Amino acid sequence: MLIVQITDIHISTPGTRAHDLYDTPGHLRRWVARLNALSPRPDLVLATGDLVNEGQPDEYRILAEILAGLEIPIYLMPGNHDDRGNLRAAFPEHGYLGGTGAFINYVIEDHPLRIIALDTTIPGKVGGEVCQARLTWLGARLSEASVQPTLVAMHHPPFETGIPAMDAVGLEGKAEFADVVRPHRQIRRIVAGHLHRTIQGTIGGHTATTAPGTAHQLGLTLEPRDRPMITREPPAAHLHLWRGHKGGLVSHTLHLEAEEIPR
Ligand SMILES: [Fe+2]
Repeated sequence: MLIVQITDIHISTPGTRAHDLYDTPGHLRRWVARLNALSPRPDLVLATGDLVNEGQPDEYRILAEILAGLEIPIYLMPGNHDDRGNLRAAFPEHGYLGGTGAFINYVIEDHPLRIIALDTTIPGKVGGEVCQARLTWLGARLSEASVQPTLVAMHHPPFETGIPAMDAVGLEGKAEFADVVRPHRQIRRIVAGHLHRTIQGTIGGHTATTAPGTAHQLGLTLEPRDRPMITREPPAAHLHLWRGHKGGLVSHTLHLEAEEIPR
């Protein structure tokens, strides 16, 4: 089973500063072509939040129009730049987004690797949280299939990254999250976005990662005085390859541009 994780797409509309700087719709169009051409074809694409830049209906319309060209099933998750209501309205055929529920939490059951998508967003805030209601939901989902290999996906990473500017707008409730996931040995990986770069950490004895953005990246700023820095490091995605209990889960970085050097 092959899962593509794309994240922090940040679709913006023409005429905005974000659009001028990063051309996020242009990047996503190129990603659609890149993913459609992958061989073997991935089973699904998981978009781990910040689908659009301002949570606006116009942005979701552009997102839906571009994703209509994707030939692989895609599952959408909200990030701090998203708006749950506008996201749901733009993708009515994506029933897993739920009607009016407080959170966009769901489980993808149809594959050898079970995927639990956990909504970590707080409307109007950059940071995220796993509140008691979400922890209870997550614990119940993990307990109901305790031997089924599982990947947990969320927008905000459940570990401190060492990048102070981003940890300041990180996830509240990490210790409680660790307590919930620690006993569940069926978890093979916890994947996140939000950081616009690849980072590996651990939480509750599990490996957790963040993936790079599909357009713009965040620079490596480890000094507390450093402000977040947006860079033109190469756009990339993560490719999670599940090869059963023996092969386990391995995660690759897939760059948007990968020109082969002729020998
Ligand atoms: Fe983002």
